[in-house]
Amino acid sequence: MKLEQQTINGIEIRIAENTDQASAVTAELIAEQIRQEPRSVLGLATGGTPMETYRRLIQMNQAGNVSFAEVTTFNLDEYIGLSPDHPQSYRAFMNANLFQHIDIDLQKTHVPSGIAVDIASECKSYESKIRSAGGIDLQLLGLGHNGHIAFNEPGSPGESRTLQVDLTAETIEKNSRFFESIDQVPRHAITMGIATILESRRIVLLALGESKADAVARMLRGLITSSHPASELRNHPAVTVVLDRESASKLGSTELSPKS
Ligand code: GLP
Repeated sequence: MKLEQQTINGIEIRIAENTDQASAVTAELIAEQIRQEPRSVLGLATGGTPMETYRRLIQMNQAGNVSFAEVTTFNLDEYIGLSPDHPQSYRAFMNANLFQHIDIDLQKTHVPSGIAVDIASECKSYESKIRSAGGIDLQLLGLGHNGHIAFNEPGSPGESRTLQVDLTAETIEKNSRFFESIDQVPRHAITMGIATILESRRIVLLALGESKADAVARMLRGLITSSHPASELRNHPAVTVVLDRESASKLGSTELSPKS
């Protein structure tokens, strides 16, 4: 596999030839973490981006190359108002795209509850569950087109902890592809905060496709600013960014369009 490696502003970048290879690299980073520490605590992401990574982890698990038997997981976020069995809930996504197919103990998988009566106390309890598990060893992240990580939209404070957020019109529109109509997309979510994410011991961010190229360039080469939350990852000492050629296509340019 042809893989280009470089460091930009202190962040290790791996650029793969295509989406499949980038997903293979990401799956291998996660599998290595588990092989080194079978009781690893993983932070997991949803969305289109990690689906192929999960498919590869399922294959590795079924081939006996990695076991999730002692792994604990915490997902980044959940839509408010969707029950765990709603097909578009992130809990349902995780069950369908990973958990159901691997040897993980479902009791050790955590996704915030989008139907908790008291959302503020659900957020607090999620933070304390992460703490009691010993913190997150490896956090997998996707990247929003507007630079969001998890559901921390532009403008989110860097010191935030798991919290309720309002989704931007752009995110609602982008995520409407998973729903029958845009009206069905929840307007609010629970998300790990930026500070929660930055406390992970290691972070692997995967971004795929041309549509993410601007967000990737701003994350790595733009200002570190809360208006592009992913840029705050540059304050973390152990981040690996995995890209395909297309998402890396704007890294060469020093000029970043102000609106990208
Ligand atoms: C969603 C999720 C994020 C995800 C991002 C990108 O709204 N909350 O965790 O990283 O948007 O999604 P996708 O991978 O589908 O492009």
